[in-house]
Amino acid sequence: MNDHSPGEGAPGYRARAGWTREQAAGLERTGETTAPVFYPPETDQMPHLHIWDTWFLRERDGTLAEVDGYRVCFSLTAPAELLPGKRHDVATIRAFYSADGREWQDAGPVFSEALGQRQWAGSALYDDGDVYLFYTAAGTDGAEELTYSQRIVAASGGRVDTTDGFELRGPWTHHELLSPDGERYEREDQSRAMIYTFRDPWFFEDPETGETWLLFEANSPVPEGSDLFDGDAGKQEFNGSVGIAHSPTGDPLAWELEAPLLDAVGVNQELERPHVVYRDGLYYLFISSHLHTFGPELSGYDALYGFVAEELHGEYVPLNGSGLVATNPPNAPFQAYSWMAFPHDGEVLVQNFFNYFDFAGETLDEIAHLPESEQRRRFGGTLGPTLRLDVSGTRTEIVGKLGHWEIPMAGESLGPTERELLARAHADD
Ligand code: FRU
Repeated sequence: MNDHSPGEGAPGYRARAGWTREQAAGLERTGETTAPVFYPPETDQMPHLHIWDTWFLRERDGTLAEVDGYRVCFSLTAPAELLPGKRHDVATIRAFYSADGREWQDAGPVFSEALGQRQWAGSALYDDGDVYLFYTAAGTDGAEELTYSQRIVAASGGRVDTTDGFELRGPWTHHELLSPDGERYEREDQSRAMIYTFRDPWFFEDPETGETWLLFEANSPVPEGSDLFDGDAGKQEFNGSVGIAHSPTGDPLAWELEAPLLDAVGVNQELERPHVVYRDGLYYLFISSHLHTFGPELSGYDALYGFVAEELHGEYVPLNGSGLVATNPPNAPFQAYSWMAFPHDGEVLVQNFFNYFDFAGETLDEIAHLPESEQRRRFGGTLGPTLRLDVSGTRTEIVGKLGHWEIPMAGESLGPTERELLARAHADD
């Protein structure tokens, strides 16, 4: 068990569960946690766009919605002409829809006006015909310079109309839901890190209690004098957490901040896009994180990490010992990012976006300094192949993959995995 209570008299607020430096020191690629190498899709479904963080329209109980036979997803997007590294500065949320979970159509930008200078990731709720879009308002409205402030926002008023094709329309009303309190959640002016985080809201109804929650990416304040402050090594600069807020009435627009579910002080600065998959009576909490956001003397990967507990507010333990669930192969370490897991047909599927490919051993920073044409050529900017994950207790294993953008429809059964086909071939030998 992790002892996360602050030392006596020491300021600082800790989550009930933590990702410890000891656990993270065990991070190592294994056959179970390393994705195969991806190649660019034969046809880019959205050649006019860079596409990255993506989420699905889901029902209150977390099921992927099918509205009049359409799957609906939302992505952060930018014009494909833009340099890939600049996309975060202009991110716009668009909707896409598909009648078969394979071919997707662009329904256009969701909002004509939204809060923030640009919009970062979120989640979407389909509640009895009403669409709520949770997102991050990044940047200060009206400021001339680009700023990095982050607020958690929801837009209400969306409806899907399929009388003549597919249309998602408002009028939308934007509601500011949450901002950091400075005590449990670090504010921008308290941050010592490269970029603080308070973003990526994700709606979750607990199937055991029926209670309604909003998870998000945040940081835990580590004031000077707290026992976690380590001036020399600078561990306090790596203070990622998974935040949570509660809606006592279930109203998707009324939330109260609660103490974080999990933190990673001294371990990692960014626990991105937290989300939960409930399975076999257990809560699987997943986050994405980067190689470059690990604390001193730790080395991790651009990867999906996960934890499991018996209750939503439980004592989370890292999956596979270290927390590593799905990472990129060593010769393509940045090929995918921003993984999102969801249950399907007894497995857990993981969608992600196809990031940079065709490596010659560069770091992300070095890629950003390559000639512009080369940066563009090597950027996927589309959805990657969906991974198939076998999950059992505290262990997970990547057992195969589907196509780029492939999100099976409800009730569709998955074919045999690559592993099963291989086993059959050997049995026939
Ligand atoms: C993850 C992420 C999110 C954020 C978005 C900004 O890929 O960093 O946390 O919402 O990208 O582009």
